[in-house]
Amino acid sequence: MDLDRNKMLRHNPIIVGEEAKRAQAAADLAGNLPADQIDPETFFMEQHWDLYSEENHETWRRLYAKRIHSLREQASNVFLTGFDAFGLPADQIPRLTTVNDVLRSTTGWQSRPVPGYLPAKSFFACLAQRKFPTTMTIRPPDELDYLPEPDIFHDVFGHVPLHADPVFADFLQTYGQAALHTTTDHETALSRLFWFTVEFGLVHEDGRLKIYGSGLMSSVGESNWALKGDGERQPERRPFDLDKICATHFEIDEYQPLYYVLESFEQLRDAMVSYAERVLNDANVTV
Ligand SMILES: [Fe+2]
Repeated sequence: MDLDRNKMLRHNPIIVGEEAKRAQAAADLAGNLPADQIDPETFFMEQHWDLYSEENHETWRRLYAKRIHSLREQASNVFLTGFDAFGLPADQIPRLTTVNDVLRSTTGWQSRPVPGYLPAKSFFACLAQRKFPTTMTIRPPDELDYLPEPDIFHDVFGHVPLHADPVFADFLQTYGQAALHTTTDHETALSRLFWFTVEFGLVHEDGRLKIYGSGLMSSVGESNWALKGDGERQPERRPFDLDKICATHFEIDEYQPLYYVLESFEQLRDAMVSYAERVLNDANVTV
C-alpha cells in the first residue's frame, strides 16, 4: 500500500472494512480475466453513507461551491439538463440511491459504489453493462484543487450528469463493449478516445464553445484555459475526428495543449458505433 492510499484511508472511514477489501480484490483479479468471465457485480459495495465524516461532507460543500459558480456559463446544455435532473445537494455528499432513481427513469444506467481505482478491463466491463463504477472516497481537504485519481466529486458531479442523456448513454455503453473486447492493437487508441471526449471534451452549442468532459467539470482553472486561453496563448482546438483522436498522444500532468470539439453528441455516438464494429470484428466478438 503506498502513501496516497494510506492517506485516502485515513480521510475516508467509508472504505475501511472487509466489504471494501473484497470488492477491490475482485476488481483487481478481474483485470486479468477473459471478458466473458468478468462479473462486475463482485466489484461493488454499499455506499454506507452514514460513515462519511463531517470533514468529508465539508470537502464536498467546498468543491461544489467553487464549481457551481461558472458551471451554467461553461457547461454543455446536455450536461446541465442531466445535472438539474439529479438535483445534487450542495451541502453534503449525495446518496447514490437518489442518483440511481433518476438514472432508472432516464437511461437505465446505474452508478455503483466501488472502493477505489479499477483496472482498465474491470472498468470497461462495468460500462458495457451500463454500470458506472463510482468512487466512494472523497479527496483529503488539503488536496482540494488537484487529485490524480477519481473521487466521488469527480465521478458524480463531473461524470454522472451526462449518463442521464440517452445519446451519451448509448455512446458510453458502446465504448465499454468495444474496450472490454478489444485486442491490444486498439487499447491505446481507446484510452485516447476516452481522454479527449469523456474526460476533456468540448462541444459547440449556441454558437460558442462549451465543456462536457468530466476532467473539465472538476477543474475551474482548466475550463477557463480550454474555453478562453490565458490572455496570451490559446490551446489548439480541432474539430472532432475519431481516427485523429485515436492517433493523438495526451498529457496527464498539465493543462491540455489540445482539445477536440464536437458538433453534437449524435456525432460522438455514431462515430463510436462505427469504430466499435471495427474493434469487435477484429476481435471476432458479437455483442
Ligand atoms: Fe474521470
